[in-house]
Amino acid sequence: MDYQGLIARAVEVKQSAYAPYSHFRVGAALLTKSGKIFTGCNVENVSYSATNCAERTAVYKAISEGEREFAAIAVNGDNDDYLPPCGVCRQVLAEFCDMETFEVILANNEEDYRIVTLDRLLPGAFSTDNLKPSDVF
Ligand code: THU
Repeated sequence: MDYQGLIARAVEVKQSAYAPYSHFRVGAALLTKSGKIFTGCNVENVSYSATNCAERTAVYKAISEGEREFAAIAVNGDNDDYLPPCGVCRQVLAEFCDMETFEVILANNEEDYRIVTLDRLLPGAFSTDNLKPSDVF
């Protein structure tokens, strides 16, 4: 896998971040199993809870374009250390990605990055296996 190429796209899209409240820009680049890349940045809102993280922007763009099979995501933030995806983004990734094989690349830059699989970031995730049909409806 071209980790450096994917990281470069995450760093690049960070420039598009809309972060007037936190002043903390994040970029993400999501790789499909077919080799396409979907990028995303964080998009904040004056009503803070309406903010969308970079990772989810990338996932929603990809899903909207008909892609559902993902191999990896690179994340780069305006910090000096590896930026771990927030809990909501982990859950969204878990909806579409294989927990054991999907790679989350926490990148400071193209040379300095850590790779973790999704199961390490979200152990014991709530999944479709936990859904029980309700007899209420
Ligand atoms: N943020 C992301 O885009 N991804 C993360 O994984 C962590 C947080 C954004 C949300 C908000 O715009 C800013 O970073 C500060 O929390």
